[in-house]
Amino acid sequence: MITFQLDHTVGSIVRDHPALSRLFEQAKVDYCCGGQKTLDEACRQRGIDPQRFLAQLEDYAASETASEINIAELSLTELADHIERIHHAYLHEELPRLEKMVTKVAAVHGEKEPRLTQIRDVFLALSTELTIHLMKEEQVLFPIIRQLEANDTLPSFHCGTVANPISRMEFEHDEAGAALAQLRQLTDDFTPPEWACNTYRALFDALLTFEQDMHQHIHKENNVLFPQAILLDQQKAN
Ligand SMILES: [Fe+2]
Ligand SMILES: [Fe+2]
Repeated sequence: MITFQLDHTVGSIVRDHPALSRLFEQAKVDYCCGGQKTLDEACRQRGIDPQRFLAQLEDYAASETASEINIAELSLTELADHIERIHHAYLHEELPRLEKMVTKVAAVHGEKEPRLTQIRDVFLALSTELTIHLMKEEQVLFPIIRQLEANDTLPSFHCGTVANPISRMEFEHDEAGAALAQLRQLTDDFTPPEWACNTYRALFDALLTFEQDMHQHIHKENNVLFPQAILLDQQKAN
């Protein structure tokens, strides 16, 4: 039986048991940017009974499928590859599609629902930021991490230690997290109004999937890849 403690951090629980991210999503407990909080703190902040939630986590973990890939067991290079293959590829494909949808829905229904214009503006700004963010990870940070793992000696980086670009990426994750929270609020938790057309509904549905994928993506970087890379950097420096 897998057991958890209330003083375990939310990020460490999802790192070791990725399938549990679904329960955190449902309970709206932030496990990516807020991953350093203990389970107790995070539940109380959301007004959830910590003991009850802990029991739900343990039940779910017990039934967790063995096929779920355990990212904690991957090497740093494998994890960086996995993040690019799954989450970056998803964003490269989905961001342009969502940009078109959100622009169209705001143009057609913005008069009846003025928040659609805000939703469009928040999304387009986030999409631009994310495109640059992905490029920095793919062209700068991830190659550094792969090099760090492959070399016995410490490679010399133009950006000092690996902690520098990582702290910049974490800052950008916080900003993305804030924009996602704003989208959730502006869309009434991604619930379309009764009168919404199919494109409107498809947009909100796609935004919800986008939010969930972003949470998983940021979690894998903030709580697994980045701390392990910093640790490895420190070990190689000694
Ligand atoms: Fe990423
Ligand atoms: Fe990132």
